[in-house]
Amino acid sequence: MPPPATSSPAPISIQSLRPDEADEACALARAVFDRFIAPAQPEAGRQLFHRFAQPAALLRRHSTRYASWVAVAGPRVIGLLHIHARNHLSLLFVAPEFQGRGIARQLLCTAAARGGLVAPVTVNASPNAVSFYSRLGFAPEGPALLKNGVHHQPMRLAAAPRDWASPLAP
Ligand SMILES: CC(C)(COP(=O)(O)OP(=O)(O)OC[C@H]1O[C@@H](n2cnc3c(N)ncnc32)[C@H](O)[C@@H]1OP(=O)(O)O)[C@@H](O)C(=O)NCCC(=O)NCCS
Repeated sequence: MPPPATSSPAPISIQSLRPDEADEACALARAVFDRFIAPAQPEAGRQLFHRFAQPAALLRRHSTRYASWVAVAGPRVIGLLHIHARNHLSLLFVAPEFQGRGIARQLLCTAAARGGLVAPVTVNASPNAVSFYSRLGFAPEGPALLKNGVHHQPMRLAAAPRDWASPLAP
């Protein structure tokens, strides 16, 4: 009799985005946005986001002042972190079935440990993500805003958490 089939989960790794991963990473960001963020955003904000999360636009930014990191499980992109100027989180998305397993934290830690994320860090948090960022130590900076059709709460992390292993803010 053949041995029973076993399937161990694919190991998860964090790496700098490769150009050939941009399509999948953007498709992930758009799908997660549509499910968790879009319902509370005006149509103009949804359209703006979808234009921002196109592969060509992502790669153009990635080659200038942005850096992008992906979480990969086997052959699949399951998380995306896109950072502007090493201190502003532009995109942070994790596939629904992988949420709550520390993937976002790992993306941030890896970017920081490799010098790609330096405190103080800012983010325009979507309303659903404010409690997540608070958990990581971010604090609201001013009131919630509706800007360019996007509801968001500006937040700031003054100093990197100990587990980020990155230089602390001066
Ligand atoms: C927000 C998001 C990126 C978090 O990713 P994740 O991989 O699930 O987060 P992690 O598992 O790394 O969680 C890190 C910590 O935050 C906590 N956390 C996660 N989601 C949370 C939430 N909604 N509220 C409060 N705390 C939360 C975790 O418990 C964990 O805490 P601990 O390490 O101290 O135990 C993910 O839920 C997501 O993609 N959401 C939809 C898209 C989105 O809103 N992106 C942000 C746009 S600004």
